[in-house]
Amino acid sequence: MMPGEPSRTALAAATHRAVHQLIEHGDIFTDPLAVPILAADPAALVADAEAHPGRRPMRFFIAARHRIAEDAVAAAAAAGVGQLVVLGAGLDTQAYRSPRGAAMTIYEVDHPATQAWKRARLSQAAIPIPSWLRFVAVDFETEILADRLRAAGFDPARRAIFVWLGVVPYLTQAAIFATLDYVAGLPGGAEIVFDYADPPAAWPDAMRPMLEARAAHVASLGEAWISYFDAASLAERLRASGFTRIEDLGPADLGTRFRPLGPPALRNKGGHVVRAA
Ligand SMILES: C[S@@+](CC[C@H](N)C(=O)[O-])C[C@H]1O[C@@H](n2cnc3c(N)ncnc32)[C@H](O)[C@@H]1O
Repeated sequence: MMPGEPSRTALAAATHRAVHQLIEHGDIFTDPLAVPILAADPAALVADAEAHPGRRPMRFFIAARHRIAEDAVAAAAAAGVGQLVVLGAGLDTQAYRSPRGAAMTIYEVDHPATQAWKRARLSQAAIPIPSWLRFVAVDFETEILADRLRAAGFDPARRAIFVWLGVVPYLTQAAIFATLDYVAGLPGGAEIVFDYADPPAAWPDAMRPMLEARAAHVASLGEAWISYFDAASLAERLRASGFTRIEDLGPADLGTRFRPLGPPALRNKGGHVVRAA
């Protein structure tokens, strides 16, 4: 991220979610606050998306990862889990439309600059801050998540669910595994939903130009993709952290469950969504 500035990719991800409501009517992931939090002209959002049809696979991936995460949160809540931690929350809106009220305390963790920008946007969009929400400002690269969460009231002895979407590719492996090891080691037990991408060398040749263009774009925003994973090695590393239930949904699984994320030849590598407990 650019020093002292909010995440630009957080705005991009939120724009994909808003456009998904406007063009696909939220058929993968429904979020009635996705458009209001942007405070943008819906017609302009649609016109821009339609002028760039190459963005569709990313939009569907972002909708799919959010749907998987929010389904996991609903299942956890139904099982009595009362703590949700949204890591690198960006403009995620689930805290503001949570149907669970005080039964689930939600911790929104983000880089201080992004969090300050989000709070200004919430105020501008007149979206109230619910009583069950706690803001926790953390830089994953330099600060200890455990300390910040505890200071905000998080109870490590009670079961929790963590959602970490669109963040892992931007972090160093040290920061990624510090967080995953912490979640796996929580004494109350925990589940995490996060996403990652296959290493570029594994992507089909036909996809590489798109990947390289996207990677160059995010790097130009000061948010380069620096961490990729191979599914088998990541699963092994997660087991070493202490996770025992690991579900990794790759592009083909996501395409079967939701909507193909591109033409058939391009569906074997790309983004994955992991649920690990
Ligand atoms: C692509 S956005 C994703 C936001 C949100 N999870 C979503 O899906 O819309 C990346 C997020 O990671 C956060 N982030 C990136 N590097 C970070 C760091 N070192 N510490 C804390 N947050 C970081 C950014 O502030 C931003 O909110």
